Amino acid sequence: MTDNLGPLLVALDATRGRVLLFANGQAVAALVASGQDVKLEVFPEHAGLRQQLLAACRTQFVALKESLRHAVYEVAALKVNTESTAAMNSIPAETGRRVHMGCGGEVREGWLNIDYAPDRPGGYDVRRSFLNYDLRRGLPPLESASVDLMFSSHFFEHLRREEAVALLKSCRAALKPGGLIRFELPNFQKSFRAYASGDATFLDTAISTHRVFDREPPWARAYADLISRAVYEVDYSHKYIWDAENMGNLLRALGFNDVSEDVYRADIDSAHEIRREYSFYIQARA
Ligand SMILES: C[S@@+](CC[C@H](N)C(=O)[O-])C[C@H]1O[C@@H](n2cnc3c(N)ncnc32)[C@H](O)[C@@H]1O
Repeated sequence: MTDNLGPLLVALDATRGRVLLFANGQAVAALVASGQDVKLEVFPEHAGLRQQLLAACRTQFVALKESLRHAVYEVAALKVNTESTAAMNSIPAETGRRVHMGCGGEVREGWLNIDYAPDRPGGYDVRRSFLNYDLRRGLPPLESASVDLMFSSHFFEHLRREEAVALLKSCRAALKPGGLIRFELPNFQKSFRAYASGDATFLDTAISTHRVFDREPPWARAYADLISRAVYEVDYSHKYIWDAENMGNLLRALGFNDVSEDVYRADIDSAHEIRREYSFYIQARA
């Protein structure tokens, strides 16, 4: 059924932030981000090929699913960051003094909220003071020494270590002398301790409050499955484990001062009960 398409070829279309699909030497469709997944968009003039293309993708790309998902995530970031960089001058200086990194849905009023959504256009949304930006390349171009306060909750564990280093360097440069950077991060120590000591009360509570296993088959509901989820997260989106020691070491190495672990602070930290139960807090000054 798919024979007449010939072998499918892919190419990165950096300007449009998508992966192009070629059949018989012609661009016939694009793979684009859809949430964390990938969607096939067949070009209108080749709409008749849709079923064949879907079938061909399923067979020819079966072992490339993850690579293609990554390719779409990466190539969309080039476009999103370019568009968002161009929009930087529409951000009021006042808003740029408090930066919320990896905000997810938790946009905060009066802050510059930043998160990367590969399936959304780049640019600055004034209504939500939200900037779509891939922070693996560091902060968007903010004026140096212009920021008073930076905050992130459950975000830095989504970066590879070298990406975290690059981002923190740009945070150090963007903060005013004495400006504060604060991190809310998963408390892996707590989970590992409970797992190693067989603390069933802690582990069962974690399973039920997070509803971790609701969509899992019965054979994947052991404590090691819970720990795997905590470490790797859904879609393996966690990249690194931080605790107060290694994050503190890194912050000091990058020239931050007054590095200290802290307790939960209602005026800045995430109010969600789950976050409070499974986080630790560390902060430093530029
Ligand atoms: C676990 S969520 C945390 C969301 C929110 N801060 C909270 O505490 O509920 C991690 C967030 O990091 C964002 N993220 C992951 N990689 C990113 C990147 N390279 N640039 C910007 N945001 C990213 C994700 O899109 C997601 O919203």
